Amino acid sequence: MKLCMIGTGYVGLVSGTCFADIGNQVYCVDKDINKIKKLNSGISPIYEPGLDELIKNNFNAKRLIFTTDLNKAISASDIIFICVGTPNKKGTLNVDLSFVYKCVREILLHTKNKKIIVTKSTVPVGTGDEIEKILKKKKKLFSIISNPEFLREGEAIRDFRYPDRIVIGSNNKNEFNTMKKLYSPLISKGAKFFTTTRRGAELIKYSANAFLATKITFINELANLCEKSGIDVEDVALGIGSDSRIGSRFLRAGPAYGGSCFPKDTKGLVSAGEKFKTNLSIVKSVIKSNHDRVNLLTKRVHKILGNNLKNKKIGILGVTFKPNTDDMRDSTSLKMIPYYCKKGAKVTYYDPSGEKFEFKKLKNCEFKKNINDTCKDTDLIILLTEWDEFKSLDFKKLNKKRNFIIYDLRNLYNPKEMLNKKIKYFSVGRPNFN
Ligand code: UGA
Repeated sequence: MKLCMIGTGYVGLVSGTCFADIGNQVYCVDKDINKIKKLNSGISPIYEPGLDELIKNNFNAKRLIFTTDLNKAISASDIIFICVGTPNKKGTLNVDLSFVYKCVREILLHTKNKKIIVTKSTVPVGTGDEIEKILKKKKKLFSIISNPEFLREGEAIRDFRYPDRIVIGSNNKNEFNTMKKLYSPLISKGAKFFTTTRRGAELIKYSANAFLATKITFINELANLCEKSGIDVEDVALGIGSDSRIGSRFLRAGPAYGGSCFPKDTKGLVSAGEKFKTNLSIVKSVIKSNHDRVNLLTKRVHKILGNNLKNKKIGILGVTFKPNTDDMRDSTSLKMIPYYCKKGAKVTYYDPSGEKFEFKKLKNCEFKKNINDTCKDTDLIILLTEWDEFKSLDFKKLNKKRNFIIYDLRNLYNPKEMLNKKIKYFSVGRPNFN
């Protein structure tokens, strides 16, 4: 099939490349000429394991075309995917749909024959209806479908190839067959093809993210209780997660959830609730609890190092919101590192995805190119993101200082082993912080 992906951000680029890889001709369009130039010279603007190679293969096979020419891409395609950003409006819970609507107006301008328009961007309930209104002048030319994306950063290619389900929302049943044909290589490998109304699909996306965020927040709050009552939260997660009605995934206690999706989509769902005069009190309290958690875990360092952090040396391993991504959005490190610097600590950090501009202007904060230099001579090592290369470290070799401490926010290490090595060790949801 011939597809046009508008927006070469995370969703557009990964799904566009993967659609090409299963045999489609895909035009990836972006206004950003530098991005398109980069892509045309084989450089991916985003960090995603395996993506560079997949782009190269499909580009060379001429199935993947990168262009700024929207008119050409639309004319050549049967299905147009809207993959532009839907951020929160600054300081509010509302979703900014201006990029989506701008894109729809451009589609209207360039379309001369029948097209299917698919929203892949995460959009609030009723957005498809609004799109239909914008397109009413040429309404016979368009079918508007919702097909939310469920891929995770860092695992995106695998998630595309082996999705748990493909959700298609349309008010026109005829379009289900076209979408089924498009996804048939994945359906034949076992992916569930689920159809519903357009509004239904829009809400499913927000509900999935809000539910997962709730699950994480639930275990994080239980972790606080475990710390005070002498229980290991990992036992609780295993004990409840083995119940197939609950499920074991997304029950890892740790820092506040972050990234470009959960924080934005929980707020977006509350805002949709407000629009339809429905109080989503659970989601509201998840947002608050997650916000409080960033402060709680940041300030906890005082319980470890005392009130005065002046000249204390703190080494931080991993600053992205999770491993296998360079994404810093809503990462706990954005709060933690400036706070420690402000308190006079000397912070060094290392992240496998490289130095972060967010910390460049901070006094007392230095990026180190490896784990060794980050941990050397520190009073405290904070493990913030569970990258593979942090999983088996010999801290005694890394830090010759006597009395150095480890604060492991991802429970990567075994407390008993740390005790045997006589390393002072703090983690999350284990009885450390009485
Ligand atoms: C999330 C969803 O998992 C995807 O299905 C969805 O497509 C995507 O948002 C999106 O809407 O685009 P992502 O933001 O890439 O994916 O990251 P996750 O792997 O879901 O992690 C989100 C946050 O939760 C991270 O901060 C992670 O560290 C945290 N987390 C996750 C935990 O603290 N504990 C867990 O058990 C799992």
